[in-house]
Amino acid sequence: MGIEFYKEEQLFLLHTPNTTYGIGIVEGYVGHLYYGKRIKKGEREQLRYLLRVEEQPRTPSVNEREKNTFLDTFPMEYPEHGMGDYREAALCIRSEGGHFASESLYEKHKIFKGKPKIKGMPASFGTEEECETLCITCFDPVLSMRVELYYTVFEKLNVITRHVVIKNEGTRPFYIEKVMSASMDLDDEKFSLLSLHGSWARERHIQIVPIGYGRQNIGSFRGESSHQEQPFVALVTEGITEECGEVYGMNFVYSGNFQAQVEKDQFDRIRMFMGIHPDGFCWKLEGQEEFVSPEVVMVYSANGLGAMTRTYHDFYRNHLIRSPYRDKKRPILINNWEATYFDFDEKKLLDIAREAKELGIEMLVMDDGWFGKRNSDNCSLGDWVVNENKIHGGLKKLVDEVNEIGLQFGIWFEPEMISPDSDLFRKYPDWAIHIPSRSITQSRAQYVLDLTRKEIVDYVYESVASILRSANISYVKWDMNRQLTTIGSLNLSSDQQGELYHRYMLGVYELQDRLVTEFPNILLENCSGGGARFDPGMLYYSPQIWCSDDTDAVERLLIQEGTALIYPLSCIGAHVSVCPNHTVGRNTPFETRGHVALCGTFGYELDITKLTEEEKEIVKHQVSDYHKYNDLIRQGDYYRLVSYRESRYYDSWLIVNKEKTKALLFDVQVLARPNRRSRRLRLKGLDENRLYKMAGKWYRGSVLMNAGILIPEEQGDFKSRVLLFEGE
Ligand code: GLA
Repeated sequence: MGIEFYKEEQLFLLHTPNTTYGIGIVEGYVGHLYYGKRIKKGEREQLRYLLRVEEQPRTPSVNEREKNTFLDTFPMEYPEHGMGDYREAALCIRSEGGHFASESLYEKHKIFKGKPKIKGMPASFGTEEECETLCITCFDPVLSMRVELYYTVFEKLNVITRHVVIKNEGTRPFYIEKVMSASMDLDDEKFSLLSLHGSWARERHIQIVPIGYGRQNIGSFRGESSHQEQPFVALVTEGITEECGEVYGMNFVYSGNFQAQVEKDQFDRIRMFMGIHPDGFCWKLEGQEEFVSPEVVMVYSANGLGAMTRTYHDFYRNHLIRSPYRDKKRPILINNWEATYFDFDEKKLLDIAREAKELGIEMLVMDDGWFGKRNSDNCSLGDWVVNENKIHGGLKKLVDEVNEIGLQFGIWFEPEMISPDSDLFRKYPDWAIHIPSRSITQSRAQYVLDLTRKEIVDYVYESVASILRSANISYVKWDMNRQLTTIGSLNLSSDQQGELYHRYMLGVYELQDRLVTEFPNILLENCSGGGARFDPGMLYYSPQIWCSDDTDAVERLLIQEGTALIYPLSCIGAHVSVCPNHTVGRNTPFETRGHVALCGTFGYELDITKLTEEEKEIVKHQVSDYHKYNDLIRQGDYYRLVSYRESRYYDSWLIVNKEKTKALLFDVQVLARPNRRSRRLRLKGLDENRLYKMAGKWYRGSVLMNAGILIPEEQGDFKSRVLLFEGE
């Protein structure tokens, strides 16, 4: 298996197929040795020098009077606050007496097959044949605190997952002020920092910036992973490309507040960590209690960004997403949001369903506006009772009629919310998250329910579940349209209010877990004002997430490029919508919108009853392309060829099946250029010896990859094409 321990050298080596991660213990301090290309098993003496224990200052036992300098330079595996390491700590504890310090030294470890579950939280999984886990236990005798560092190594993928457990083994409480899930100290190799930033309708744009001295961090304290930053960072070496350069990626399996930071210190060393954001966080840990952190998924690639991407894709497809839909083609859906917004009734929905059926669409999703008296976003969240003034005859009747037309039925909820103008709020005004005597900040005219309270979680669950039990519903879109403010809960004592953000997430996870347990066959799609909760935490419950409220094909190129940097295409919610686009007003060809949406879950979000005959014919083609290509798109290896972000004119990507017998090329000419002839495009990931047929002609894999193909320049902007390469 992948984990070695050398007792004499006090050394752990964690191997994946192409990487090695090394940990060494020096006088109880757990040190980070190495992370990078795989080192042959057994090369133990060769690595310990990386701990630099012989350099000045020597270790505390040799040079106690300079212990501070030792602590401030040693490459810590899980640095703690308050004893002399002035780089930012991963763990900060406040004792009952108010002191901020801890020092947990190595006590023992165990190595076992498989991977433990993280109770109440999303986490990746693997069988005893697929992975092995190391748990290093450290102890601080002053606080009676045990710190368990978990590392799981996957046998077939270059992935290591990490999380920590903090245990109070004493009788008096202490307070966790900060707890990161993973930390790593590396020598700087002129690293830059890659992150995914954005805003509403512009999520996950790739950004690479140089790392200077000091601290650089990204994060969210909005109560969700957010539109603005993504819980993913990577250290990348200079001039990183798709195939060349080194990458150290960290992705957080969590949907709430997070922080990811890199710090370059006085000795040109980098500390990189990721965990729950410490702002507004403080966890009171009573005697005999434990706190379990969420998990970080680490991927190292010595072969550029592309290899990292494909590792994350395979890992999430096989070791994170649990849904029975994970490996299945999803029904092509039509959602009425951009078609009608709040202005619909059952007749309108049935008209859409009938037309959709004609064109080969398989599911109708009724979006926001079907409940309470909600005709705008001003009211009724929390009142999950169908509005019979809109849906005459009730929900079951509508669902039955849609089923009779031959379509499945899906429905939208925003379960975590409560409108000030709702029967629920009038009945339970203290159910919203709030600080007594302070007005609650509104956002989209709504408040957030206090999901730290069990009775509220139960109520929310029952109101959603009773709707789902009442009719033949096949799909749920779970939305969350505002971020958290005025953080306060009646459920928590004054020294526990800092637990609210995390307890809120535990409430959300419990709700979604109950939902997928009671309704395993319902296809769940998460959403948050577009893509503000597009994170690995959500993928544990839903096999797909709505990627962005921006459905413009060109905007989507950048959004989907950034999203697919880590997440498989099979989980990227993408629909064809109408033009001029509702968000940016751009007109793009119907075909291009289809091609971009095909590289996600695929569906429609427009008034299909208003399409021209020509557009209807295109829809039929798109539906048939979906059936033809979706297996490949869902399961294949994804290669970025040209990025519109860099080229300013073109965007191309390729999907190759695992057997390398089939490849599908997507190419978008975003802007036309004058006086141009064809351009040459090199493919990737093919079998160099195999012959591939494209448009009736045969090409050798090596020719396609080394010499490339010629793509003719067309007149007009936003033109796209899809080319299939079929191997012999
Ligand atoms: C969010 C979603 C949209 C739609 C609206 C409904 O913005 O991202 O797709 O469901 O809410 O209010």
